[in-house]
Amino acid sequence: MSRAIDIVVLAAGRGSRMRSAKPKVLHPLAGQPMIEHVLAATQGFDNASTVVVSGHGAEQLEAALADYSVNFARQQQQRGTADAVATALDQLREESVVLVLYGDVPLIEADTLHRLVAQVSSTQMALLTVSLQHPDGYGRILRNDAASVTGIVEHKDATAEQRNICEVNTGVLAIEATQLRQLLPRIGCDNAQGEYYLTDLIELAVASGITIAVTQPKNASEVEGVNDRIQLARLERIYQRRQADLLLDAGATLADPDRFDLRGTVTVGEDVFIDINVLLEGDNQIGNNVVIGPHCHLIDAVIGDNVTLKSHTIVEQSEIGADSVVGPFARLRPGTQLAEGCKIGNFVETKKVTLGSGSKINHLSYVGDAILGSGVNVGAGTITCNYDGVNKHQTIIGDRAFIGSNSALVAPVNIGAGATVGAGSTIARDVDADKLALTRAKQMTVPGWKKPIKQ
Ligand code: UD1
Ligand code: CA
Repeated sequence: MSRAIDIVVLAAGRGSRMRSAKPKVLHPLAGQPMIEHVLAATQGFDNASTVVVSGHGAEQLEAALADYSVNFARQQQQRGTADAVATALDQLREESVVLVLYGDVPLIEADTLHRLVAQVSSTQMALLTVSLQHPDGYGRILRNDAASVTGIVEHKDATAEQRNICEVNTGVLAIEATQLRQLLPRIGCDNAQGEYYLTDLIELAVASGITIAVTQPKNASEVEGVNDRIQLARLERIYQRRQADLLLDAGATLADPDRFDLRGTVTVGEDVFIDINVLLEGDNQIGNNVVIGPHCHLIDAVIGDNVTLKSHTIVEQSEIGADSVVGPFARLRPGTQLAEGCKIGNFVETKKVTLGSGSKINHLSYVGDAILGSGVNVGAGTITCNYDGVNKHQTIIGDRAFIGSNSALVAPVNIGAGATVGAGSTIARDVDADKLALTRAKQMTVPGWKKPIKQ
């Protein structure tokens, strides 16, 4: 069994600069609460257990994380980061390594955390630091002549000389639980802010013969915190650019990596092309040689090989078979399943619909709660009247049937294979295979009619 890791995520702060009724750590980054990104970065640890320190908006936070197997410690008053960790102390295991993280530092990466934790031993604790050009506001890392870390001084408590130090504390650290239990109660609040500083742990550790191992993140953005919506927006762009770069690495072409958003996950096959302003949400699978036109929006979509999605197409919880062409301006709502070689054209809405191979709905239609065979052609302006005001009913259309333009199919109704529905019909009864059905008023010419003349 690998070492026990107890993760403590600090999230009690008020986040007043967000100007929000919602706890800061619940504000979304890439569509997902910031704190969930932090929890995701810890997923790779075996034998891990997590305590989230809640405070401001604790009920909301705890409810939002109900599906996670995390414990909560409530910090009644925000008396500093050391006090926050102290509230979690009695939920930590006897011999674990404790890793302290922050719910408002969402871009932290698993690899960094693993490197940090690997440094911890009975004689050593680990600190994540970063060097910044503008270190204002951060705790500064103090080192002795031998370059060993001796302590951290908070910006507000630092001398002018100490404020010149560019290496700063990220707040992220790891230490054995036994050491933490010994040192934490010795932290006082005699400082500029009258708070219990977790940073005082460093000096106390050094005094008791524990060395401080320093790790740095690959990118400084990993340890950037969010205090306001401007910083959140900044991190969103950094996150999105990273997702775009991962896709480029995976072999996709993006027309503009700065105009691509992923709020969830995606896998791509070979030679996928994604045009500008595409938004992907949920879990998406994209096959080989797929072209996604500009302004498309995919939500839990499965896209087969050689599919083209033309601009402004929305695909939600739907599957598109190989060689199909969809859009522009098509909306595939949940439960749409297209077999291979289908065609859905502009201003077509589908919902809970199965299309067999090679079937087409090319223009201006609503097709819902329907099963279409293969080779079906649905003409422009066709509507499945699937709702009688109380219940939904199904339309079934057999292979090779032809539905003339501007037809209303009043469900439940069954159109046989090879049948033809004449344009402009309202079909409320089943149509037999290979027959022509139409409900069209006879055309007439009004005798003696004269064009009105302007008076
Ligand atoms: C802290 C560090 C500082 C470091 C900086 C990095 C201390 C004393 N200082 O400063 O060295 O450079 O982070 O961003 O640790 N929190 C609680 N309960 C509390 C206080 C804070 O849960 O009682 C949480 C906050 O919600 C926040 C985090 O801890 O997420 C950091 O607290 P904050 O007060 O912002 O510390 P900084 O002043 O930024
Ligand atoms: Ca902060």
